[in-house]
Amino acid sequence: MTFTAQIGNVTFPDIIYNSSGPRCTTPEELVALGNSESSAIMMKSCSPEPRTGNPEPRYKEVELGSINSIGLANHGYKKYIEYATDLKKQFPDKPIVASIVGFCHEDFLQLVEDFQNEPNVDVLEVNLSCPNVVGKPQIAYDFETSDELLEKIFTISGNKPIGLKLPPYFDPVHTASMAEVLKKYPISFITCINSVGNTLIIDPETEQPLIAPKWWLGWLGGDYVKPVALANVRAFYKLLGDRMRIIGCGGIKNGVDVFEHLLAGASMVQLGTVLWKEDVECFGRIQKEFYEYVENKGYTSVDEVIGNLKEL
Ligand code: SIN
Repeated sequence: MTFTAQIGNVTFPDIIYNSSGPRCTTPEELVALGNSESSAIMMKSCSPEPRTGNPEPRYKEVELGSINSIGLANHGYKKYIEYATDLKKQFPDKPIVASIVGFCHEDFLQLVEDFQNEPNVDVLEVNLSCPNVVGKPQIAYDFETSDELLEKIFTISGNKPIGLKLPPYFDPVHTASMAEVLKKYPISFITCINSVGNTLIIDPETEQPLIAPKWWLGWLGGDYVKPVALANVRAFYKLLGDRMRIIGCGGIKNGVDVFEHLLAGASMVQLGTVLWKEDVECFGRIQKEFYEYVENKGYTSVDEVIGNLKEL
C-alpha cells in the first residue's frame, strides 16, 4: 500500500516528509532529503538575509526528545531559490517546499512574492511561529497581527499553495480565535505544531542548563510534545478540516505515531526530532512501520483513517 497526497495542485508521492528545522539548511542536507524516502524536500525557514543564529550550544537531545534554540540560522532566501533550482533538476518528482520567515510584514511579503515567482518551488509554508529570536514574539500568538499579515499575503498573486506553520495553542479559546482568523483566507494547509516553547532542561550532573541562548530556555520536540501536537491537530481538524489540510508535526518517531496523527485529523505528517536523531533513514523505516500497521488493522486507504478518531 502507498498513499499519495495532494496539497492544492501539488501531488506528494507519500504522506511523510521533513519539518523545517532539522537537517534541511545546507545543499548537502537537502540533497540527502531528495535521495531519501521523504515525500518532499522541505527547506529550512529562510529570511531575507543570511543568519548565523544563536550562540552554541543551541541544540541537545535528551531521552524524551530534544531542546533547541537555533535562532533561524539560514543562508538567506536567495540561496534557497538557487538550491531549489538544483534540487528540481535532480529530483523532479519531489515537491520542494520553501519555509518563509520574516521580521516585519514587508519581509514576509517580499519572500512570498519572490517564491511565488520561482518555478522550482512548489509549495510555501509561512512560519508564523518561530520561537527563538531574541526580543521577537511569535506572530501566531497575536491574532490581530496574524490577520493583518495574512490579508496582505493573500493579495499577492500566484498559484502555489500557501500554508502556515503554527505554534501550539494551550487554551481552546485561543485555538478558536486563530481558527476564526484563518477561515478568512484561502490557506491550503496548516502545520500543527512548531516546538513547545520556553522550557528549561537542567543537567543535574553539571548543574547547568543544556543550551545557552535566551536565558537557557529552549523549544521542545519529540516524545514530550506528542500529546500537545495531537490536541492541536484534533482541534484544528474540527474547526477547519473542511477548508484546509492539517499537517501533523510533533513527537512522531514510529509508524503508530503517524497513525495517531492521522486519526486526530492530519492528512500528512512531518518529522522533526527523529530526523535529528536518526538522520534520513527514519523516513523509510517509519513509512514501512505505518503501512504494516494500517494494513494489519484492515485499512485499505488513508482516507479511512484521517480524522476518524473514535470519540467517547
Ligand atoms: C529556529 O531556527 O530557531 C527554529 C525555527 C522554528 O522552529 O521555527
